[in-house]
Amino acid sequence: MDPFLIKIKPERLEKDLLDLGKFGESPGGGIMRPALSEADLAARAWLKGRMREAGMEVREDEAANIIGRWTPAGGSADSPCIAFGSHSDAVPNGGKFDGALGICAGLEALRAIRESGVPLSCPLELLVLTDEEGSHFAGTLGSRAMFDLLAEGEIYRSKGAGQPSFAESLRRVGKSPEEIGRAVRSSSEFLAFLEVHIEQGPLLESLGAPIGIVEGIVFIERFILRVSGRPGHAGTTPMRLRDDALVKAAKIILAVNEAVLAGGPEIVGTIGNVEVQPGVFNIIPGRANLLLELRSLKNPVLASVRGAIQKIIRSQEGAEMHLLLSKGGVRMDPKIMEAIRLSCRERGIACHQMGSGAGHDSMTFQARGIPTGMIFIPCKDGKSHSPEEDIRLEDAAIGTQILADTVLRIARR
Ligand code: HGY
Ligand code: MN
Ligand code: MN
Repeated sequence: MDPFLIKIKPERLEKDLLDLGKFGESPGGGIMRPALSEADLAARAWLKGRMREAGMEVREDEAANIIGRWTPAGGSADSPCIAFGSHSDAVPNGGKFDGALGICAGLEALRAIRESGVPLSCPLELLVLTDEEGSHFAGTLGSRAMFDLLAEGEIYRSKGAGQPSFAESLRRVGKSPEEIGRAVRSSSEFLAFLEVHIEQGPLLESLGAPIGIVEGIVFIERFILRVSGRPGHAGTTPMRLRDDALVKAAKIILAVNEAVLAGGPEIVGTIGNVEVQPGVFNIIPGRANLLLELRSLKNPVLASVRGAIQKIIRSQEGAEMHLLLSKGGVRMDPKIMEAIRLSCRERGIACHQMGSGAGHDSMTFQARGIPTGMIFIPCKDGKSHSPEEDIRLEDAAIGTQILADTVLRIARR
């Protein structure tokens, strides 16, 4: 295949990235753009405009996923499509490129393919997926709604008192959460799904490789550890008579950290939040809830550390461990990986095959048997999920060009 049929326009990509990064921009340089917040709604409205300008028919499903579809001249509108995209929401005070890059790269790749006039038989779709980061609860809600992978009642759960559930946010933006089942699509509608994403780690930069070809995405398990004690007067209860839930929780946090370290370099574990009740100076904590997340590319490693932690919990009186979510653990499609590799080779671009410690919407598509591939680009100092998240725009352009070439390669098989 002549690899230079499609020519993306880096300056157009750059402008979209910078414009999208303005929605939710906070003084410290990070962005506050939780799913379906005012900032996210404004970003989405802007994206719909750009998608229409690019010649797509744009609709929004009952899970607020935005679906932009372009059918090439002569192509049949309802044949299976090649889709690409990512998420518009961000973690609190996050960076401007996590998710946004995949959307802007997809937008530019579709424009460049359309402008090239290269004959294509299948439609292309750009997807803006809702709540990947878990603003409401467990994350990847939009893509899992699209493929009927939501847990029973999940959309009615929230992250805590006073925080909206996904259902409440959907209602606020004029949708009927009870209808979310109408967002479900069949895997047979898709020939492939591709996601361009920042690596969110230091490997590619350390190797000097502009492209990462993702081979697998980690298994992710999330738990709540509930620790109960006996609330009491903080002034009159002698230390030896206390049953302090937070002191017990502190011991658990340190023991859990040791257990994860003992699991070796292929697993990570994080206790990201401690909620103490009643949480005031003069009452001995009666309850402490810990949010624990474990991730590993190797399920046996994760299972063995999970077992060690369950033992710690059993040994601590008043402690319980409850699984909230288990997802990820997908191998990417070898043929899609090969197509990405060929695209890199034809352009003489160094690429590196690697795993992803971050979760992505791509997990959902692959979990449903849709041939899926991820194209990583380096991020500066490996930083992400922080205002310091940054990329080289040349790398963004390379990732976008490889996406466009790979889409064409798959479409012309
Ligand atoms: O949590 C993750 O790995 C992703 O950034 N949502
Ligand atoms: Mn993220
Ligand atoms: Mn992401």
